[in-house]
Amino acid sequence: MKHRPGSNKAAEKSLVILISGRGSNMRALLEADLPCRVAAVISNKADAPGLEVARQHGIATRVVAHRDYPDRESFDAALAATIDACQPDIVALAGFMRILTPRFVEHYHGRLVNIHPSLLPAYGGLDTHARAIKDGVKIHGCTVHFVTADLDHGPIIIQAAVPVLWRDTPATLAERVLRQEHRIYPQAVRWLCMDSLVLDGEGKVYLNRVEQPGFALVAPALE
Ligand code: GRF
Repeated sequence: MKHRPGSNKAAEKSLVILISGRGSNMRALLEADLPCRVAAVISNKADAPGLEVARQHGIATRVVAHRDYPDRESFDAALAATIDACQPDIVALAGFMRILTPRFVEHYHGRLVNIHPSLLPAYGGLDTHARAIKDGVKIHGCTVHFVTADLDHGPIIIQAAVPVLWRDTPATLAERVLRQEHRIYPQAVRWLCMDSLVLDGEGKVYLNRVEQPGFALVAPALE
């Protein structure tokens, strides 16, 4: 069975972005001139710096503070109610630091996406850059994927790879990866807006375009 994410409307789609912190990926989405309406930015933290950035862009903001709820289920229910009031076609997690319940994730099947700072399925979870450096990998990166109940393991939409350099610290590597996050997240959301993605029944994502240039990143570089 094929499912086209977010294809329930012919008109311009609408996007809700969830954040918890500084919101640099959110900013990249807001400044990418995407063919959609950003209905709201929602944070689970009232003091998330990204909220002010959203307001400066004229975007409505909401706070659903997880601390106000006794458990994950009730928080997720309140969050879903706030999101659904905006009637979004696409929900983008952009540094949203809460684990979501299977029920919540299922409710947004095919329209909930996340950006993760590693080349999934490697390095799910936290401290991805430090773990990559510790393992001595030479290539690291970032991934945009659909969110499923399996944390950091949903269908992959797009990835970007960067070299891990000899003197990298987690901070320098994070900076190099983040620059790529800001490129691939808007691209993934743009594809969703344009119904360019097909999510198949086996959990794989295809871009409905045949031509795909290919080249290799070799790190360290060949001499
Ligand atoms: C990014 O590295 C993203 O991949 C991860 O959390 C970080 C959020 O950064 N999920 P920002 O708030 O978008 O600047």
